[in-house]
Amino acid sequence: MGKERNNFAEPLAMLLDKGERMLLQMGDKSPHVAKADGVYDDMRHDWWTSGFWPGILWILYDLTGKEQYKEAAWGWDEKFERKMMQDNNFHHDVGFQFLPTAVIKHKLTGDPDALRRGLFAANFLAGRYNLAGRFLRAWNQEKLGWSIIDSTMNLSLLFWAAETSNDPRFAHIAKAHADTVVEHFIREDGSVRHIVNFDPETGEYLGAIGGQGAGPDSAWSRGAAWALYGMANAYTYTGDEKYMRASQRVANFFIANLPSDDVPHWDFRASEDLENEPRDTSAGACAASGLLELASILPGNEGSVYLRAAERILTSLHHNYATWDLPSHDAILVQATGHKPAGENVDVSLIYGDYFFVEAIAKLNGWKSRIF
Ligand code: GLY
Repeated sequence: MGKERNNFAEPLAMLLDKGERMLLQMGDKSPHVAKADGVYDDMRHDWWTSGFWPGILWILYDLTGKEQYKEAAWGWDEKFERKMMQDNNFHHDVGFQFLPTAVIKHKLTGDPDALRRGLFAANFLAGRYNLAGRFLRAWNQEKLGWSIIDSTMNLSLLFWAAETSNDPRFAHIAKAHADTVVEHFIREDGSVRHIVNFDPETGEYLGAIGGQGAGPDSAWSRGAAWALYGMANAYTYTGDEKYMRASQRVANFFIANLPSDDVPHWDFRASEDLENEPRDTSAGACAASGLLELASILPGNEGSVYLRAAERILTSLHHNYATWDLPSHDAILVQATGHKPAGENVDVSLIYGDYFFVEAIAKLNGWKSRIF
């Protein structure tokens, strides 16, 4: 099996068409979820998903060179900076917010204000590190010792800051947290825990919590996507094969548990009646983009397995879950699941699903500027 790529020019052409319409439909909104009416909401700017729409805009700008995308993307990092100085609820997800805004803006345009904002966010994230337990604290309201798998994706902000500022402290923190993920979040079989609780004083491991998964022993599919992609990134930044093997372990579990149409259910162990559980297209899109990273770092046939899996997921999303026939729908993908145990945002469109679909299709068409 070679590493040649299938032609993903068709979904790219459809995305470029969709992007023009989304630009008009979205206006100044900060989209998070679109329900049955197909209209994206307008979330507050410190909500963890606020970077994804600007991220789509920066990718579209990078692919097309069209100024309209740059103009629409330009002001987001400044909005976040302003919000950071006011009453706010920013937390460990500043990576999801500042990588697709300040950091990519600085990479593409050299803007010095964007650089300052990216480094400010990295300092904020580094400040959440707990020395005793070697983990990044997740949220603000929940327990001091809670750490979550999603943070694995935010580590790229710290690795970027280390490279950009030539200050290894950021990378030391990122690696220490990544080691904790390998030790306490990724199980032997490649399934992944969502929340792990540590004693914030001693760092002692206290146990797993189900969180957005079905339970402490379940296998939340988006958590697996965050893990496989984040671990591949940790390898890319450090060259430490432990992270690559961890990413592969999760990827193998993810691929082996996909249903026949290659788009995951919201939790691979949701119930006995898995076929009737909701899908999570956002997990599929994020995992596909992460699998493309794995494919690019692994040689020969080993990498091809992940490339082919990513292509199968993306082909199914393109043919079975995209809104190409619904031009007035704000979103790109349907059938995503946000937080099933809380009964929130089930069978909806989620902006991060759209983002990772755009990112993955862009990668398959030769896009090289990385955001995560
Ligand atoms: N980072 C929260 C989620 O994946 O829903």
